[in-house]
Amino acid sequence: MNNHKIGVCVVGAGRAGMIHARNFARGTPDAQLVAMVDPVEDFARKACQELELPTYYLDYREALEDQKIDAVVVVAPTVYHKDIVVAAAQAGKHILCEKPMAMTVAECEEMIKAVEANRVKLQIGFMRRFDKSFIYTKERIAAGEIGTWCW
Ligand SMILES: NC(=O)c1ccc[n+]([C@@H]2O[C@H](COP(=O)([O-])OP(=O)(O)OC[C@H]3O[C@@H](n4cnc5c(N)ncnc54)[C@H](O)[C@@H]3O)[C@@H](O)[C@H]2O)c1
Repeated sequence: MNNHKIGVCVVGAGRAGMIHARNFARGTPDAQLVAMVDPVEDFARKACQELELPTYYLDYREALEDQKIDAVVVVAPTVYHKDIVVAAAQAGKHILCEKPMAMTVAECEEMIKAVEANRVKLQIGFMRRFDKSFIYTKERIAAGEIGTWCW
C-alpha cells in the first residue's frame, strides 16, 4: 500500500489562502501541507508559525524546485494565476487554482495547454458546483420550471 501523502504548498497566505492552508494542515488525511508562499514575508512567517510549518518561500518559483511539493494551491491575486499555474505545470506539480481562473480567456487557454503538455492535473475552485442549493436550482432551470435555459 502506498502511504505517501501528497505534499502541498499554498501560494498566497491571504484570506482564502489561509482557509486552504488550515484545511490541508488539519483536515486532509491524504495530503500534508509542507510549505507556504507569500512575497510579504510577515504573512508567510505568521502562517508558518500558526500552522507549525518549517518552510516558507517569498517567490513561488523557488517553491516549485522543492521536491517535497507534489501539488500547489494557487491563492494569489487573480492577475498572477496564469504565470503561477503555467510555471507549476512546467515543474510537474498538480494544481488547485482558486476562481476566477485568470484574467482573460486567452490566459485560461494557455494554462490548459501547459497542464496538458506536462500531464498534470488542474482543478479550479468553483466550489459552488458542489453546493446543494446551486445544484437544485440548476436542475429546476434545466427542467424548465424556472428561468430560461440558455447554455
Ligand atoms: N472560491 C472562492 O469563493 C474565493 C473566495 C475568496 C478568494 N478567492 C480567490 O482567491 C484569490 C486570493 O484572494 P484573497 O481574498 O485570499 O486575497 P488576499 O489579498 O487576502 O490574499 C492574497 C495573498 O497573495 C499574496 N500574493 C501577492 N502576490 C503573490 C504572488 N506572486 N505569489 C504568491 N502570493 C502572492 C498577497 O501578499 C496576499 O497575502 C483570488 O483569486 C480570489 O478571487 C476565491
